[in-house]
Amino acid sequence: MTVDDAGFVHSRPQTPASPGRAADGYRRDVQQLFPHSDSGDVDPVAAYHDVERPAPAGRPWVLVNMVASVDGATAVDGRSGPLGGDADRRLLGVVRGLADVVLVGAGTVRAEGYRPPRTPVADMGERRASRGQAVRPRLAVVSGSAGLDPSASLFVDRDPDDPAPLVYTSGDAPSERLDALAAVAEVVTADDSLDIADVLADLQGRGVGTVVCEGGPGLVVQLASAGLIDELCLSVSPLIAGSGTGLLAGAPLPRPTNLRLAHVLTADDFVFCRYLAC
Ligand SMILES: NC(=O)c1ccc[n+]([C@@H]2O[C@H](COP(=O)([O-])OP(=O)(O)OC[C@H]3O[C@@H](n4cnc5c(N)ncnc54)[C@H](OP(=O)(O)O)[C@@H]3O)[C@@H](O)[C@H]2O)c1
Repeated sequence: MTVDDAGFVHSRPQTPASPGRAADGYRRDVQQLFPHSDSGDVDPVAAYHDVERPAPAGRPWVLVNMVASVDGATAVDGRSGPLGGDADRRLLGVVRGLADVVLVGAGTVRAEGYRPPRTPVADMGERRASRGQAVRPRLAVVSGSAGLDPSASLFVDRDPDDPAPLVYTSGDAPSERLDALAAVAEVVTADDSLDIADVLADLQGRGVGTVVCEGGPGLVVQLASAGLIDELCLSVSPLIAGSGTGLLAGAPLPRPTNLRLAHVLTADDFVFCRYLAC
């Protein structure tokens, strides 16, 4: 209780400790908000992995995984890092662990300095093995210009046991770039312009059952526009960014897309929403 110069008495409630906050001020626990669970606690690996993802006819299951600020921005100063936190990175790893292929646009590769996918931790590894998946997801990059650095980490730091990353590109990409990339990647060139539906069909032909698309907005808008998103995992960061592109960047969609909410988790003030296409 304090008394100010005007004689007003101020009584303020003590700020209660947040439930689940560890002694060091950092919450590792992941809580499930929806569907309601009596304990609240959830194993995020089970929440994401113990779910059927049947591939639709002619293409793999497509899961888009993005993080956005509460005002909808997907980057701060051109990168998604400032939106993330430890819990977000842990759940990104859990969602990546679902993938046969991690699909990403060249703009994101260039902005984020992509590295080869890491080995998913043990309990995901067992689930992957039981689903018949490779130890690690393969990376696939979409780049019409083939403007990717062949010495970048995603190409040169992969485990030698893993197949080279895939690069999907268009027929008018400069041949010298294609030649340089062909030394470090499996390059798939479209006859002319690249259609994202053709990329998915090619992946299905390679036996890919689950694609996790990690953006960016210029790639995701094409999937959304063509009705090719089966699942959207959206991490809402506890941040007002004040500017920045949203989840989609490009031509308006022909029509709005309805989703249904599959689960909501929370950790470290992030909210993790999992939506399914209706
Ligand atoms: N918050 C998040 O979860 C998140 C996730 C990912 C990215 N981001 C942010 O988003 C930004 C990057 O996104 P972005 O929209 O600029 O780039 P993007 O979607 O990652 O990539 C766009 C690029 O992909 C290639 N591409 C995509 N579709 C194509 C098609 N049909 N045919 C040919 N090429 C195609 C083109 O590459 P070329 O230019 O090489 O032809 C195009 O410029 C960065 O700031 C990044 O930090 C945020």
